[in-house]
Amino acid sequence: MKRETQIFDLPEQTAEAVADLIRETALSRQQQGKHFNLAVSGGSTPRQLFQLLADEEYRNTIPWETVRFFWVDERCVPPTQAESNFGMTWDALLQYAFVPAENVFRIKGEEVPEDEVQRYGKLLIAKLPSRNGHPVFDLILLGMGDDGHTASIFPDQMYLLEVDHPAAIAVHPVSGQKRITLTGPTICNADKVAFLINGQSKADLLREIINDEPSAQNYPAAHVYGHRRHIAFYLDKAAASAL
Ligand code: 6PG
Repeated sequence: MKRETQIFDLPEQTAEAVADLIRETALSRQQQGKHFNLAVSGGSTPRQLFQLLADEEYRNTIPWETVRFFWVDERCVPPTQAESNFGMTWDALLQYAFVPAENVFRIKGEEVPEDEVQRYGKLLIAKLPSRNGHPVFDLILLGMGDDGHTASIFPDQMYLLEVDHPAAIAVHPVSGQKRITLTGPTICNADKVAFLINGQSKADLLREIINDEPSAQNYPAAHVYGHRRHIAFYLDKAAASAL
């Protein structure tokens, strides 16, 4: 198990470090003649990263034809709605980058959740290499909510950390909104997981998780932290202020 924590003064610097990781990984996979299978999360933190990737410095230096975009989770809404994770990624990056359409595997939030969860799970099994009976991503980008959720695995749905099928239906505990999410075994099967976490509101949670405090067992993000082959935290100073 390899664990690394990188702390930056500003959120922009955190995004830059993850953008560099994505570029390095894409170039490395291109040299190996292989795809770079990347799963991205939604939320406000990745938006800054995607906007940076759309800037010339990255847009023109990443071999986008190598990168295959998958989603960690998706709200069960059409891609045109503001809450759509795909919609956010399209607005911030995909409409500008040169990612071939055949490399974009969005979760179809507009479909019936019970049908889409099966379609997306089967697609992951078909498109990705397998290890330990689960699909393998090269890199999964995760965030963490103020309640310790990650992907769309919420503290009141911890069983999703153990579901064998690569995707499952989750329900937001406050809004009741249905979501499609990667499940724990597939997340924990990735070659690398990078948490991109900014902001003071995450500081105490991060301390509990990284210090393996008893309360951390209630947080899905802690389960991923504890069960990963190679995990990296990319944090701004505010998020790391309690470490
Ligand atoms: C989602 C995300 C979710 C996100 C966290 C953190 O669909 O909302 O996948 O897991 O990573 O909620 O969100 P912020 O980056 O906005 O803090």
